[in-house]
Amino acid sequence: MSLTPIRQALLAILADGEFHSGEQLGEQLGISRAAVSKHVAALKALGLDVYSLTGRGHRLALPLALYDQALLQSALPMAPVHVFPVIDSTNQFLLERVGQLQSGSLCLAECQTAGRGRRGKPWVSPFGCQLIISLYWRLEQGMAAVMGLSLAVGVAVVDALESLGYHGVQLKWPNDIYYEGRKLAGILVEMSGSAGSLCHLVVGVGINLAMPDREAEKIDQAWVELRELSRDPVDRNQLAVSVGRSLQETMLRFERDGLAPFVERWNQLDSFSGRPVKLLMGEREVFGIARGIDDRGALRLETEQGMALFVGGEVSLRPQ
Ligand code: BTN
Repeated sequence: MSLTPIRQALLAILADGEFHSGEQLGEQLGISRAAVSKHVAALKALGLDVYSLTGRGHRLALPLALYDQALLQSALPMAPVHVFPVIDSTNQFLLERVGQLQSGSLCLAECQTAGRGRRGKPWVSPFGCQLIISLYWRLEQGMAAVMGLSLAVGVAVVDALESLGYHGVQLKWPNDIYYEGRKLAGILVEMSGSAGSLCHLVVGVGINLAMPDREAEKIDQAWVELRELSRDPVDRNQLAVSVGRSLQETMLRFERDGLAPFVERWNQLDSFSGRPVKLLMGEREVFGIARGIDDRGALRLETEQGMALFVGGEVSLRPQ
């Protein structure tokens, strides 16, 4: 499903959140009312929450400020910023172009049709409902230096949110972003074609902003959206600038100093610290008390056999 120029024009009219009759829309766009209905259906299929009411017309559930590429590029001058209304996956876009990209390049989209989550899961990305952002980085030190990067990225996202006044956001090992026990955002780090000491990295972040009910049903875990954290409406362009800049600065720092400068902060933000957890690694289960991360980003679990370190697996809280 693509956002053709006529659908972009339709969306630009509906973006104010007011009702527009089919007849009026048809006149403005130079198409029939039947064609308007067809294009409205296409917008709904992209995840846009369009209400249609006989006699009144069509409106968006909430007004929508679309990403402003010129504004984003001038606020994020380090490298090119690519902005798309609809894309398969922003991570995929960058991965397919690693040879031509400048480090720090960003890719944002209003909607992903094949968004990717961790462990091969799909990531639901309806139109305008999330911050969907990916960054490309060329790491000269190679793959060995990548361990712990996703933990540093978690800190980068929380810091960006705090700078905009969103407080109480926490981290869950290895790289989920939580608020009051529910998932607010996810991080996916992917690598491509590392030859010798060179490694191409793509860091993708998806933050829930305001999800329509019918799309939210597709999410298989407890989740929360950013609009629940503040009374002020989310300024998506401002958020994109803040997260984009924080990602770029974090990559510069990580490339120079590794994970070390992020460990203390990560441990302060750990939502499971001191709590009984279960770590699942394939068929194996380990129980213990979560004690944060070590200098390399491994999970520290206090088990009956003593302190143990883990570099992989899924942690979940154990009921008390
Ligand atoms: C997770 O499963 O928690 C990770 C989700 C990562 C989603 C983001 S959205 C931007 C980027 N593009 C993708 O296809 N995935 C990541």
